[in-house]
Amino acid sequence: MLSPKVLVMLARLAWVIALIIGVLIYGGHTLRIEFHVIPGAIVAFSLIGLALMARPVAGFLSVIGVLVALLLPVVGLLQLTDVDSLKPSLTGVHILLALASIALSEILAKKLRSKA
Ligand code: HEM
Repeated sequence: MLSPKVLVMLARLAWVIALIIGVLIYGGHTLRIEFHVIPGAIVAFSLIGLALMARPVAGFLSVIGVLVALLLPVVGLLQLTDVDSLKPSLTGVHILLALASIALSEILAKKLRSKA
């Protein structure tokens, strides 16, 4: 069963993998983007799960969690478009959203633990 504990562990593991592959891609290694997008999507789905579970205890933070989880892949994939002038800003926003996603996962999981 997908308990908050399992979801936050999944988010942590997938986050580290997405980060390592993301940094390798940034460093110019030619890796299949799926190796980054699949763990990235696991981070996003775990955050949505935690946000929905934590809704009664976390209130508006849950809404922020869902928004961040949705924006993370959208901004991530926008980096693949051909608008070169936007690329640095998109990369910056993508990394901020990635940091926010793991921070929110941890905070929401903590709120769920303290409720139990
Ligand atoms: C569903 C979620 C995600 C999607 C769809 C996604 C997609 C992408 C894409 C398309 C790129 C550009 C690769 C390129 O320039 O060819 C990228 C880069 C990157 N992503 Fe993600 N990503 C996601 C989640 C994450 C997460 C969770 C992290 C952090 C742990 C992360 C960190 C990075 C980093 C460090 C880069 C390198 C920046 C760059 O190449 O400009 N991403 N991502």
